[in-house]
Amino acid sequence: MRILANDGLDIEAIEKLERNNIEVNANHYEKDELNKIIGNYDILIIRSATTVDKELIEAAKGTKLSLIIRAGVGLDNIEVGYAENKGIMVRNTPNSSTNSVAELVLGHMIGISRFINISNVTMREGQWNKKAYTGVEICGKTLGIIGFGRIGKSLGEKAEALGMDVVFYDKLIKIDNKFKYLPLEELLGKADFISLHIPATHKPIIGEEELKLMKEGVFIINAARGGIIDENALLESLNQGKVAGAGLDVFMREPGPNLELCSHPRVSCTPHIGAATVEAQKRIGEEIIGIVMEYATKTKTIAI
Ligand code: MLT
Repeated sequence: MRILANDGLDIEAIEKLERNNIEVNANHYEKDELNKIIGNYDILIIRSATTVDKELIEAAKGTKLSLIIRAGVGLDNIEVGYAENKGIMVRNTPNSSTNSVAELVLGHMIGISRFINISNVTMREGQWNKKAYTGVEICGKTLGIIGFGRIGKSLGEKAEALGMDVVFYDKLIKIDNKFKYLPLEELLGKADFISLHIPATHKPIIGEEELKLMKEGVFIINAARGGIIDENALLESLNQGKVAGAGLDVFMREPGPNLELCSHPRVSCTPHIGAATVEAQKRIGEEIIGIVMEYATKTKTIAI
């Protein structure tokens, strides 16, 4: 069996697969080259750097490629329906990065509410802006979580432990044994901090209208997907002071995000590193081994 891990893979996972006579190529190939070689592999593993579009799937059609694994949660860089129609299975690793993303969100929350982001910039320029950086505590504030899947819930648990009141909105989940569900509009008007944990959407879930419903001085964090917030509307609200701070790990354009937004003094930004921890990548590697094992058993290709 041959695997192409086009965006890399945890070294221990590679070694384990190789010990089981599975060949793993962890080199990265750009689109044109990838289209040419994809048919030589049974399994393609990707992160966010590779896009599996219709062209790539067409190139793989009728070859031995039968499984695509997204090492991560979001499947928005894969034409899932198109692949499945051509008989190629698509899987992801939804369990592995939960804690890492939730911790990064907390980092951004405290960063923007205590000016840690901008202090790091101005102190390097020799400034001492002690008086300008009076922040607010997160303890006692209301955190509104939009999207209450694994990551949203994990964030809720952590935030509650830090003394926050947690409410959530989710399209499907309306009841939780611990946290209170609120309709979206109500949540927007009540929360001091809002964090988004939903998959990519065709149009932003937070735009001008939604921003208007929020409290003056709200803090917004997005470590889910760039397009779910209208970046122009967010920038406008930051400039007006309506939004007191934004923590952003994801952007409409990646790489090459809106520089005006990233360099705004009230923005804390990171380059899509929610799942970029040693622990998450290790767990992703283990989850992938599980998927490959299941696939090997089903297809009787190899016994791990
Ligand atoms: C994910 O969908 O799991 C994340 O965006 C992680 C990533 O691609 O780096």
